[in-house]
Amino acid sequence: MFEELRMREGRSLAQAVEDYLTEWSDRTGLTVEVWAMPKENVTGPVADAVYAVVREALANVERHSGAHTLSFALTTGRGGLRLTVSDNGVGFAPGRTGRGIDTMKRRFSEVGGTITVNSVVGEGTTVTGQI
Ligand SMILES: Nc1ncnc2c1ncn2[C@@H]1O[C@H](COP(=O)(O)OP(=O)(O)OP(=O)(O)O)[C@@H](O)[C@H]1O
Ligand SMILES: [Mg+2]
Repeated sequence: MFEELRMREGRSLAQAVEDYLTEWSDRTGLTVEVWAMPKENVTGPVADAVYAVVREALANVERHSGAHTLSFALTTGRGGLRLTVSDNGVGFAPGRTGRGIDTMKRRFSEVGGTITVNSVVGEGTTVTGQI
């Protein structure tokens, strides 16, 4: 994939994600609040999975949420890697899944992680991942 290739061309995961968030914010007009980015680099299949999940989570916010703000946090530490992508959009009823949410779950499970999608109608949606 183009983005995953670009990421391997010398950029850390944090740099690649930051660049993607900036481009996405410029294009969509949504405000992005970055609360945390990893200080140590993340590489290999875990980095690819995180990058792929970020892209799908943002695609869903753009297509479905009607949000005006997206909050983003990516941390690494003794407890492992944690990803949170949260929007203040329309939300959706539980049980509604498509290919994108299934793919996010599969990408994280392939590297030993889990994805949880929490949504409240009228409040917004939060995608949480941990590895
Ligand atoms: N951030 C969000 N805000 C509001 N609704 C959402 C959000 N994310 C997902 N949804 C709802 O959950 C459904 C399933 O999302 P999913 O990504 O699995 O499929 P999709 O985006 O419809 O299609 P695709 O297979 O192209 O990803 C969406 O159709 C939408 O109704
Ligand atoms: Mg989708």
